[in-house]
Amino acid sequence: METIKRTKVIDILQSEAYDTIVNVKGWVRTHRDSKAVHFIAINDGSTIKNVQVVADTDRFNADLFKQITTGACLSVNGKLTKSPGAGQASEIQATEIEVLGTCPSDYPMQKKGQTFEYMRQHAHLRLRTNTFGAVFRIRHNMAIAIHKYFHEHGFFYFHTPIITASDCEGAGEMFQVTTKNLYDLKKDENGKIDYSDDFFGKMTSLTVSGQLEGELAATALGSIYSFGPTFRAENSNTPRHLAEFWMIEPEVAFIDLNGLMDLEEDFIKYCIRWALDNCKDDLEFLNKMIDKSLLERLNSVVAEDFVRLPYTEGIRILEEAVNNGHKFEFPVSWGMDLASEHERYLVEHHFKKPVIMTDYPKEIKAFYMKLNEDGKTVQGTDVLFPQIGEIIGGSVREEDYNKLQEQIEVRDIPMKDMWWYLDTRKFGSCPHGGFGLGFERLILFVTGMQNIRDVIPFPRTPKTAEF
Ligand code: 4AD
Ligand code: MG
Repeated sequence: METIKRTKVIDILQSEAYDTIVNVKGWVRTHRDSKAVHFIAINDGSTIKNVQVVADTDRFNADLFKQITTGACLSVNGKLTKSPGAGQASEIQATEIEVLGTCPSDYPMQKKGQTFEYMRQHAHLRLRTNTFGAVFRIRHNMAIAIHKYFHEHGFFYFHTPIITASDCEGAGEMFQVTTKNLYDLKKDENGKIDYSDDFFGKMTSLTVSGQLEGELAATALGSIYSFGPTFRAENSNTPRHLAEFWMIEPEVAFIDLNGLMDLEEDFIKYCIRWALDNCKDDLEFLNKMIDKSLLERLNSVVAEDFVRLPYTEGIRILEEAVNNGHKFEFPVSWGMDLASEHERYLVEHHFKKPVIMTDYPKEIKAFYMKLNEDGKTVQGTDVLFPQIGEIIGGSVREEDYNKLQEQIEVRDIPMKDMWWYLDTRKFGSCPHGGFGLGFERLILFVTGMQNIRDVIPFPRTPKTAEF
């Protein structure tokens, strides 16, 4: 076969260099034939669209056609021609076809309409389907949008550690990191594990958030963000939780609660607008196949102002709903943590748009949030999205040394581990704040997919770490 430089399908479909000989390589999506010609749809992952290869029956060996099955990998040389058929501008009139990899009939992705559950069990091959191709091209684009947004707004990309000795959220949901022999653990006189001979000489874990180190950077560089893998050993088997997920955490000096909410809203709208502008074909596919209201929902979130709602006001609305006969599984009262049914009521039923909830009771939030003058609530903000629930969690940080120390003590966090964090409040303390956006929750929203396991390539959840 003649060696011709490969052209990606995405470029072939836009090319008007008719009558030139091109080479395309990719996997067969469909193969059908009329007597005189075979039509082979090839996809190479560069776009959701396939290029149509037209091969004259009498030009090629019948055995070759038999090898061109769904999933087989081909290299095709042929003449780029204007397509007479509807639906595509150009096609390839094959002159040479080479089968790079045959695909036997037990190919797990052969049948259309498999369940997502089935696809998850074949996560190594699901990437080759239209749906997962679309999802992961969009995921890439969202990562680009995030870096672009922060770079354009003067934020520095800052790398926070993955192995850490501190539990930022204080929820005790950390995966331990150790090189100790688990079959022969040395314990002290109180029966506690002695870590002095462990790799780091102390107990360490995978990070649940880069925020604390992000604060160190924001109080030096002004505006930073991190974007990295995050780990939580919470035993939540829900369509919204992963044990390993990616989080984006901007942290900004001299920002107040309103500034923080402006940043959250502007940032998230930028990302969605980016998807609408740069992922048209994939979004149209998902809108057609996965969720018919996807594009409408994305457009409306970009167009509307988010509701800004203090927690106390949110509770009042929920109590009013209860008084009017609405049934929640969990009772509503001031001081409670909102369950997903409460968040959904506010976002999907009451306001019908994204809600930024603020000023939560201090007892249900982390130690680092800034205390309000009422002494009861803190300047936390959660962004609640339709279909998703909480997509962002953030806050203005407590910058007062004594108040912060008090909250650390109240929560029994070992002070000796926090000395470096407290130093930011001791030396030139400044007002600052930030938030964490769950990357996969954003991808869920943008793609219309229903399960978070379907927007990360190889999901890690309780009892699952395949691939
Ligand atoms: O609300 P969270 O726990 O906030 C923090 O970790 C803060 N330290 C962030 C900060 O202020 N810098 O988590 C932030 C977001 C959540 O809103 C959610 O979108 C996502 O991270 N998230 C998860 N996503 C997938 N699986 C999980 N188990 C998640 N836990 C949190
Ligand atoms: Mg949260």
